Amino acid sequence: MKIRKLGNSDLDTSEIGLGCMTMAGIYGPADEDQSIATIHASIDAGVNFIDTADAYGGGANEILVGKAISDRRDRVLLATKFGNIYARDSERGADGRPEYVRAACEASLQRLGTNVIDLYFQHRVDKQVPIEDTVGAMADLVKEGKVRAIGLSECSSETLRRAHAVHPISALQSELSLWTQFALEDQVPVCRELGTTYVAYSPLGRGMLTGAIKGGADLAEKDRRRDHPRFQGDNLKHNVAVIAPIEALAKRKGCTPAQIALAWVLAQGDDILPIPGSKRVEHLSLNIAATEIDLSADEVQELHDSIPPDFTAGSRYPDAQMWTLDL
Ligand SMILES: NC(=O)c1ccc[n+]([C@@H]2O[C@H](COP(=O)([O-])OP(=O)(O)OC[C@H]3O[C@@H](n4cnc5c(N)ncnc54)[C@H](OP(=O)(O)O)[C@@H]3O)[C@@H](O)[C@H]2O)c1
Repeated sequence: MKIRKLGNSDLDTSEIGLGCMTMAGIYGPADEDQSIATIHASIDAGVNFIDTADAYGGGANEILVGKAISDRRDRVLLATKFGNIYARDSERGADGRPEYVRAACEASLQRLGTNVIDLYFQHRVDKQVPIEDTVGAMADLVKEGKVRAIGLSECSSETLRRAHAVHPISALQSELSLWTQFALEDQVPVCRELGTTYVAYSPLGRGMLTGAIKGGADLAEKDRRRDHPRFQGDNLKHNVAVIAPIEALAKRKGCTPAQIALAWVLAQGDDILPIPGSKRVEHLSLNIAATEIDLSADEVQELHDSIPPDFTAGSRYPDAQMWTLDL
């Protein structure tokens, strides 16, 4: 596993991370023992970037991650997030008030069973609070030793620049995958200018790029993706076609479609860190093996020709929630 510096920080990160969100049952049932075994296998393999958020399972995911890493905390780059309160308060959506930042951090530290968060993200930008105020409060947490580095999630390039003027932003976490490519033209160049690592979330297209989803029947009864326009009706019928060119290339290269999807994200640059989500050791191992798969320029072009940036039908979140993104 290649180890790199996280953006402009002193933190060492593996070239891919592990996303723990679905261990909170967000894409269907999750088993705690299996989830903890996956986190342990990740750390043992040197995948030290472990990503959670206070919003996942209403804090339950942080408790699970805290339990899993309690006896190996020093081997982990622990990333968590605050401020995505849409599930609790859909009118406000996000909370970036300085007093809230402090309270949320204290609560996360408690749930995670640690005295420091390595990378603390604002999960959603609060449009009612200037970003300078929110990041100022996050910078105070760094000064107090409660947080080591600061990140933002789902923020615009302009917000990123304003935030970075207050305190170095070490990571921007937003979506990036073969079916969600907009950041390559917008946020990624700004991250490069500022020395900010781009943390690519949902690099497997929330499972769509693995080939496991061919229709709505492949989603569990209680699965958040059912609420997402990209996984509904005519959008879904169109979007499943994304998998054919990925499967064709996977077959030629003797690997899986998910590995091609991850190799494509990794091929975008050393400063882009995909965090595939999995709650299974088998999938984690395949995702780690994907770091060894090189795509040639011709193969990247072939994927680009069959899956152009405007390929995907439907918005990334339910329409009622799209306004919470800082686009
Ligand atoms: N900042 C934000 O707003 C935000 C939003 C969404 C996600 N995230 C972060 O990004 C992480 C990843 O995103 P995600 O979980 O939404 O989507 P993803 O990584 O694109 O896809 C996850 C799905 O792919 C499956 N999978 C994983 N590896 C596989 C493999 N090798 N072969 C076949 N299937 C595989 C998983 O199932 P199994 O569990 O069965 O392996 C799961 O259903 C999250 O855990 C979270 O940390 C952040």
